Amino acid sequence: MNLFPPPSCVPFWAQLTRLQELCGHPLVPLDETVSTNSDALTLGRNGAAAGTLVIARRQTGGRGRLGKRWISHPDGGLFFSVLLRPDLDPADLPKITLAAGVALCRAISRICGLKPTIKWPNDLLINGRKCGGILAEAEFLDNGVLVVLGIGLNVATPATAFPAELREKTTALNRHDPTVTDRQLFLLAAILEEIDGVIATMEEGGFAAILGQWRALDYTLGRQLTWLTTAGETVRGISLGPDADGRLHIKDDQGRIHEVLSGDIRLQSP
Ligand code: BTN
Repeated sequence: MNLFPPPSCVPFWAQLTRLQELCGHPLVPLDETVSTNSDALTLGRNGAAAGTLVIARRQTGGRGRLGKRWISHPDGGLFFSVLLRPDLDPADLPKITLAAGVALCRAISRICGLKPTIKWPNDLLINGRKCGGILAEAEFLDNGVLVVLGIGLNVATPATAFPAELREKTTALNRHDPTVTDRQLFLLAAILEEIDGVIATMEEGGFAAILGQWRALDYTLGRQLTWLTTAGETVRGISLGPDADGRLHIKDDQGRIHEVLSGDIRLQSP
C-alpha cells in the first residue's frame, strides 16, 4: 500500500477525493446518494471494472439486510460498496457475507486495536453493540456473476443520529478509539486489503480457513436467541454456530436443530 501519511488536519473526504484509486480499487466518491449498493449495481451492469469502490459521504436511502434502513449520518461513517466479479460457484455466494465480516474485524483490529465480534450473519459488534453491517447483493449477468458488497461502519456517528430504541444497541468506533477519525483513510485501505484477501482465499477454495476465523469472532455462539423466519414464524433456541456452508444452526427449546440461511436473528437480553 503506497499511502503517504495524510496530515490529520485534512478531513477524510478531502484526502479521499484527491485519489483516483485506493489499493488498486478505482474510486467513485459521491457527496450524496440514495444507496451506494444501488449505484454499484448499476455501474456493474454497465460493465464497470471489478474492484470499483463507490463511497458516499451521505446516503439518503441506505439499506440493510431484510429491507431494514441503514442510518448514514453525514460524515459520521464509512458507507461504501465494492463491486466484485468473483470466480465462485453461485452456491458459495452467501459465504461472502461471512468472509467480509472476518475482513472487517481484521482491519478494525489492525488500525484501531479493537476486538470486534460478529452477530450472524452480518452485524459487526463492539462490546455487544452494533457498529457496522454488511449487505451483499448478487445478480447473474450474461458475462458472469456480479456481487456488490456494501459496508456501513459507524465511525463517528453520534448517538442522537439513532432512534431512541436503537441507542443502547448501537455504537461508533470513535467511542472506543477516539483518534480513528484521523485515520479513516488507513482504515478504508485496510478493509479493502482484507476484502481482497478473503475473496482470493475463497476463489482458491479456502473458505474453511475463513470460517475458522469467523468462529473465533462469533458473538452469537451459545446465546439464547429468537429466529424470525421469512415465513413469519418465531423459533426460540440457542445458537450452535454456523456449519461448513455458513448456515446457522439453532437448537430450539424442544431440542430440534434448525439450519438457518435467512431471516432475522434477535438475541435475548442477558
Ligand atoms: C445491515 O446492517 O443489515 C447491512 C447494512 C449495510 C449498509 C451499507 S452502507 C453502504 C451500502 N449501501 C447501502 O445501501 N447499504 C450498504
